[in-house]
Amino acid sequence: DTAGEPGDAAGEPGAATAPGRLRSVAGLVADPDRAADVTVELVARRQQVRLASGRTIEGYTLNGSTPGPLMEVRQGQLLEVHLRNENVGDGVTLHWHGVDVPNAEDGVAGVTQDAVPAGAEHTYRFVADQAGTYWYHSHQVSHEQVLRGLLGPLVVHPRSRRDPAGTTDVVALAHLYSGTATLNGREGDVPVAAAAGGTVRVRLINTDNGPLRAWAAAPYRVLALDGTDVHGPTPVRDEAVTVTAGGRVDLEVTVPDDGSAVRLQVGGDTALVIGPAGTTAPAAPEPDRELDLLDYGSPAPLGFDPDRADRDFRYEIGRRPGFLDGRPGLWWTVNGHVYPDMPMFVVHEGDVVRVRIENHSGDVHPMHLHGHHAVVLSRDGRRATGSPWWFDSLNVNDGESFEVAFVADNPGVWMDHCHNLQHATEGLVTHLMYD
Ligand code: C2O
Ligand code: CU
Repeated sequence: DTAGEPGDAAGEPGAATAPGRLRSVAGLVADPDRAADVTVELVARRQQVRLASGRTIEGYTLNGSTPGPLMEVRQGQLLEVHLRNENVGDGVTLHWHGVDVPNAEDGVAGVTQDAVPAGAEHTYRFVADQAGTYWYHSHQVSHEQVLRGLLGPLVVHPRSRRDPAGTTDVVALAHLYSGTATLNGREGDVPVAAAAGGTVRVRLINTDNGPLRAWAAAPYRVLALDGTDVHGPTPVRDEAVTVTAGGRVDLEVTVPDDGSAVRLQVGGDTALVIGPAGTTAPAAPEPDRELDLLDYGSPAPLGFDPDRADRDFRYEIGRRPGFLDGRPGLWWTVNGHVYPDMPMFVVHEGDVVRVRIENHSGDVHPMHLHGHHAVVLSRDGRRATGSPWWFDSLNVNDGESFEVAFVADNPGVWMDHCHNLQHATEGLVTHLMYD
């Protein structure tokens, strides 16, 4: 049967698709006869990479650089990526972090495909159904390959893009290479040319293992979280926003009329200096307060009723001594179990799923669910009252608990793991399965 135009019901042009709305996954599966709208050739290579600092690291590149090229498509377009592994001995894959692709395109070595060995190729094809900011990265030996650069940004523009005149759109991918903080591979202050009085959308992507704080010297708005528009974003002053490891935050800053620039600090070491060429920006002292996403923006329909859940899961993260692959150590646990004896979360297509996440492990975990977006219902018992806080990557601090919900609308076997990729190798990996 035919699926029609994927995800067009979201309303006004430019609106992101509401993730919780039941959608036809068939619309995401690219018709084999359909020609791709955007085709990208990517060559993965293991090589020495020279950082802007002059330091050389043993790393990975895509088409000769890290981060890899910015991929841009329009909502509803069919993206086709030809990946060739030139010389990466462990093999490589590409995972589309935050994009709810059909399961076979998810790029998880050992789950949805085999790693692509050196000398071989693999083609990914999917319809980009949700406008927003995403990234892609290898999902083979990821703690090593992602850390050393096998990654890049992906932007899905709204179906009909009508940026107001004077709006600039920039991507800022924050990554630590060998302990060196970079934005798009550059250290320190990165200039962004923008006209006085203009507005700038900054797509912050945190590809590190830990959370990142961002703040501007001037009021800013949070336009989107993990690829989903915030409803009714209001100006934020003297507060920093946390970008979860693996997560994305789209910010809007306005360039002052007086010809100066705005400094958008991304962590302690890197900043975007946004303004007319050659202008300087006043310092942006680090705020000690945090923007609380629980009550930011204004409420909007979720597209489903989380109080009528078909499944109720508990996901308690802990830590205890045990053996993993025969190695003794202190390992992460879910509901008391050590990998590979982890709980599987089994759902049926169409289920409304509620999950209570609790962290008693002594560390922070950026939990990432593949193939789905979930919404935060409450944190530490306090109900969310702002814009629906949709996420695919959620920063869960030690001692915190969250209630989240999602619609199981994308059949397959999906990883649900900590995006501190070191923690994932230490066993913090579970799966969501459809029966
Ligand atoms: Cu960004 Cu399973 O990963
Ligand atoms: Cu973790």
